[in-house]
Amino acid sequence: MSELNSIALKILSDGKGILAADESTATMTKRLESVSVSSTPENRLLFRKTLFSSKSMSSCIGGVILYDETIKQKISNNKNVPELLNSVNSIPGIKVDTGAKVLANSLNEKITEGLDGLRDRLKEYYKLGARFTKWRGVYNITKEYPSKLAIHSNAHSLARYSALVQECNMVPIVEPEVLMDGKHSAQDCLLKTSEVIKKCFEELILHKIDLTGIILKPNMIWAGSGSDKKIDSNEVAKLTIECLKNSVPSEVPGIAFLSGGQSEIEATQNLNLINKENTTNFIMSYSYGRALQQSALKHWSKNINDVEGTQNIFNHRAKMNTLAAQGKWSKELEN
Ligand code: 13P
Repeated sequence: MSELNSIALKILSDGKGILAADESTATMTKRLESVSVSSTPENRLLFRKTLFSSKSMSSCIGGVILYDETIKQKISNNKNVPELLNSVNSIPGIKVDTGAKVLANSLNEKITEGLDGLRDRLKEYYKLGARFTKWRGVYNITKEYPSKLAIHSNAHSLARYSALVQECNMVPIVEPEVLMDGKHSAQDCLLKTSEVIKKCFEELILHKIDLTGIILKPNMIWAGSGSDKKIDSNEVAKLTIECLKNSVPSEVPGIAFLSGGQSEIEATQNLNLINKENTTNFIMSYSYGRALQQSALKHWSKNINDVEGTQNIFNHRAKMNTLAAQGKWSKELEN
């Protein structure tokens, strides 16, 4: 087993998943201001530190994706954030893309940037303790999108990113997110997501990526948020498995879904059904941002010193998702 493969497996072992706490300062500011907390470096750290020192970290959260600011922040004089995560047996990770920008010659689509200078930044992150990374490509579904141009160029960037990350002995999370926004049907989502993922693997293989040392972070298959033909969780699970079975090479050890705008319960329920129906050899777990943090953030905003109350809420969500990653969740457990 390669070192990268064992890192990927450790992150996703025994129903563990990933906490995506890598919101950029701009996104974190939006989240904090939506609950009337001012977005200072101290407050951003305080919320994250509260989650990272929760009891469920060591049993449920195999890895945490950090943002550049957070990975460099100190918890105390002699402890930084990656050291805190290591002490609770959770592997520190880092978002390394610099965001999605307008794609020249297809101005309504995006290309994710961040390849320039990436090798040097990766070396620095490794020294700071990171052992895995994230890069997110985004795609819209409309009649004409995602275009071949967007599919190809984002796949190419994901592959170049992955090659540099593996060169630095870290596990790349490959995240092609087909957005939920729009009126498209679940069938459109299935077709487009399959095309996007297949192209990603074509490029990853061309760039000689060790597929046993990556984690794929896709969206589930669902109808667009503006569609009037919503599908139920059973159908989400069925189509998601069909999509991944047909587009992901069998060497890939694990898949960790993004929550992408689902409610907390939806994200847990869908993951649970995917695992109940899973006919593949892939570990199917979670890499949730909003679906792990939303309720905890809301509670915390009312009293940012209520560490225990905030942690109880986070612990519950982490536990529910870890059960779902093993197909052992049920609605009754939510009470
Ligand atoms: P959500 O789970 O909130 O979609 O965030 C996951 C993520 O990392 C998106 O890049």
